[in-house]
Amino acid sequence: MLSDKLQKALNEQINNELYAAYQYLAMAEYFAARNLDGFSHWMRLQREEEVNHALKIFDFVIDRDGRVTLSSIAAPDADFDSPLDVLKKALEHERSVTEMINALYASAKKDNDYPTEALMQWFVLEQVEEEASALKLVERLEMAGDDKAALLILDREVGQRTSTE
Ligand code: FEO
Repeated sequence: MLSDKLQKALNEQINNELYAAYQYLAMAEYFAARNLDGFSHWMRLQREEEVNHALKIFDFVIDRDGRVTLSSIAAPDADFDSPLDVLKKALEHERSVTEMINALYASAKKDNDYPTEALMQWFVLEQVEEEASALKLVERLEMAGDDKAALLILDREVGQRTSTE
């Protein structure tokens, strides 16, 4: 059975993942409004992935005979200067999620809650991928610089993403 402390922390993480989904949706809107449909598509898939993260924790809490308490989701940041700014903020956000996941992992370990520790191990590795994919796009947008043709080529490329992994 989950401790009250871990149950609360897992519930907070469900909210954090849903906030991340909301944040990626705001990013999808930024790109859609500028006809960068490939980036918008990428952000929509990212939104879907965040909802799946929330559901993974949701199912885990229920399986552990705990209770899920859904709370308000804060409004996302929608103030972006450029495609590069969006991706830099996505990377910054992923880094902050990594810190949250690491804290949850440490808590589970301290409490000898092995199932939560195992779940968080999955998330720890997932965060490596999340940061890497955001960083890759930051670096490619930096390479493109002010070159609009390069931006359009990149947009076409990221638009080919098919999976939420
Ligand atoms: Fe749920 Fe983007 O990490």
